[in-house]
Amino acid sequence: MAEGIGDRFQQGTKYYPFKMDEGMAGTGSSPDLYKVYPDSNRIRLPVPRPGQEIFLDHVLKKRRSMREFTGTPLKLNMLSYLLWASAGIQRVEGKFHFRTVPSAGALYPVETYVVAHNVEGLEKGVYHYGIREHVLEEIRLGDHSCSIADAALGQQACAQAPVVFIWTAVFERCKSKYGQRAFRYVYLDAGHIAQNLILSAVSLGLGSCPIAALYDDEVNEIIDVDGEEESVIYMTVAGWPKG
Ligand SMILES: Cc1cc2nc3c(=O)[nH]c(=O)nc-3n(C[C@H](O)[C@H](O)[C@H](O)COP(=O)(O)O)c2cc1C
Repeated sequence: MAEGIGDRFQQGTKYYPFKMDEGMAGTGSSPDLYKVYPDSNRIRLPVPRPGQEIFLDHVLKKRRSMREFTGTPLKLNMLSYLLWASAGIQRVEGKFHFRTVPSAGALYPVETYVVAHNVEGLEKGVYHYGIREHVLEEIRLGDHSCSIADAALGQQACAQAPVVFIWTAVFERCKSKYGQRAFRYVYLDAGHIAQNLILSAVSLGLGSCPIAALYDDEVNEIIDVDGEEESVIYMTVAGWPKG
């Protein structure tokens, strides 16, 4: 029997009929579903609009991971669409705001950050996506292209792409309902978000590449999260593909 930490995690977070292991039930608390930066400078994003009308079948056939990008800046309206398509609000039912992606228990534990190095009309810097208002909240300005590439084990696509999307999990949001089982769900949620972004990028004529080879705490430092309550789980680069 395999005994690595991943093996123990997989076995230890299984559900069984008629038996709920200790630690698999949440606390029942109602955590806030939105992270906000009330004191930050906010950049209002353009209303998200799709590009050309395009068949999903065409998008699926065209999608591939792109790791080389031209120096052409990304347009702010494209960034706006990518953020909405991957993590934005899509419908309101009663008091509840549902998003473009499914999420276990509609708890939405994943937060989105953007490291922008070449976006028209946006200063270089690190931002948090404020979902409710569809805004970017400034975390720090400056060129972080080299530090995000270094944090991704030196992957130059992170420095060359005009933008890097970073997804974190706020674990308690999901643990409040699912206990330790939540650690499975946050990764599944992030996968949905990334795929929405990747397919939307194709629909805008952009290329992208998911990135999971990263030094977690180096990325956490760039986006200023503690790495425990909230920690990076996934990233994706996007931009105008070379060739
Ligand atoms: C979870 C995950 C992590 C990945 N991490 C990286 C990465 O760190 N760097 C990279 O260049 N590609 C990464 N990829 C992209 C894969 O290498 C790529 O999807 C795979 O080779 C298949 O090629 P395709 O996407 O062009 O179809 C990742 C893909 C996934 C799903």
